[in-house]
This record gives sequence, C-alpha cells and structure tokens, in this order.
Amino acid sequence: MPKRSKSSERWLQRQRKDYFVRKAQDGGQVSRAHYKLEQIDQRFHLLTARKRVLELGAAPGGWTQYLESKLTRGFLIAVDPLPITRGGRCRVIEGYAGEDEVNAQITSLLADQQLDLVLSDMAPNISGIRAVDQARAMDLADIALAACEDWLAVGGDLAIKAFQGEGLDAWVAALRQRFEQVNMMKPKASRPESREVFVVARGFMASHNGQPDGDRKQAREE
Ligand SMILES: C[S@@+](CC[C@H](N)C(=O)[O-])C[C@H]1O[C@@H](n2cnc3c(N)ncnc32)[C@H](O)[C@@H]1O
Repeated sequence: MPKRSKSSERWLQRQRKDYFVRKAQDGGQVSRAHYKLEQIDQRFHLLTARKRVLELGAAPGGWTQYLESKLTRGFLIAVDPLPITRGGRCRVIEGYAGEDEVNAQITSLLADQQLDLVLSDMAPNISGIRAVDQARAMDLADIALAACEDWLAVGGDLAIKAFQGEGLDAWVAALRQRFEQVNMMKPKASRPESREVFVVARGFMASHNGQPDGDRKQAREE
C-alpha cells in the first residue's frame, strides 16, 4: 500500500473527526464522546439495564445520554463541576470527584448500595506542559480507582480514559492486581492524533478499604 503524504493524512484525520461530529449533530447526540462509550460498550458489553453506575467527568453529557438510554432499571450518578445535559434517570453531583464533599454526596446517594461500574472520562485542564498534564491525568486515574475501592462491588468493572505517557504502564500494571482482566482500547471515535486511550478493567477482586489512602496510593505505585 503506498505511503500517504502528511497532508493527505491530515485530511483523512479531519474527515474522520468531522464524521463523528456530524454524526452526533445529525443523531441529536450531546457530543461525539457518546460514540466512544458506545464503541467501548459494543466491545466489552459493560452495560445492562440494571447496572448501578458512577460516571466521573460527565459534562457536557454525551456519555450520560448513552447511559440513560441503557440503564432503564439501574441507576446513574454523574459527577462534574460543569453543567451536564441529562434526562430524568440521572442523579447529578456538581463538583470535583475526589473532594470530600463530593465523596459524601456519593455515599449518601448510594445509601449502602454498591456500584457495578465506575466510568471516568475525566480530563485535566490542559496547561500545555506535557509532564504537568500527564501528572494531572494520572491523578484523575487515581481518583477513579479510589472510587472503585470505596464503592465498587466485587466482580464490578471500571472503564476509564487515560493518556499514553509517563506513569500509565505502571498504573495499568497495578490495576491488573486489582481486577481479573484489564484491556486497553482506542475507539474509532477517538481522534487518532490524541494520546487518549481507554482502560477497561473487569472483575474487581476486593476492596483494599481499611487501608489509609496514602498506603493505597503507595501500593499502586510499587
Ligand atoms: C472530555 S470531558 C467529558 C465528556 C463527557 N464524557 C461527554 O460524553 O460529554 C472531561 C470532563 O472532565 C471533567 N473533570 C475534570 N476533572 C474532574 C474531576 N475531578 N471530577 C469530575 N469531573 C472532572 C471536566 O469538567 C470535563 O467536563
């Protein structure tokens, strides 16, 4: 196959981006992100009607919209400091995941129930300094994992957006100690030029809760 020139590669990438943006607009979806979750779900079958789901980084609401269409008998808690477009099946917490106040609200909404699935599409504010942005992204990954330790049922699943770079391989290796099966996926709806990938971990083994947070973090880093 002949090698494509850089300009035709850029053209192809733009076309691809436009395709999912247009598809979202034509289909009445909140955002192109909708299709990323749909493609992840098509591959891993994460969602069934009764699932109890926590969605971190939900605004503007593309994933939320997809989740509400699937979770007809379960429940959905969506967290983001920004406004989320959603229907009536979703409980929204406005704030930053990982903060005490948000944790308290999640615990209160769950009322002793556990989760079947933790989803995170959280992304940090980009500074443009790659090492700083990557460190922030890894902090968000830790927040999602801490949510699993706090509320995920044994056997539950985690799907999270991550960014290829410093710390990700070690983080995924640590995740393999906590879940039975861990896969990486780059959905077609994700821009090819982006370092974004999705980590899908299935079969949560057991919570390390009871250990102080610092110890948990250290355990993940070892
Ligand atoms: C890529 S957007 C999410 C898109 C969304 N999944 C959709 O389908 O429309 C990333 C979001 O992460 C949110 N975010 C970043 N840090 C967060 C945190 N600590 N807790 C909750 N949301 C956070 C941002 O506010 C932003 O709305």
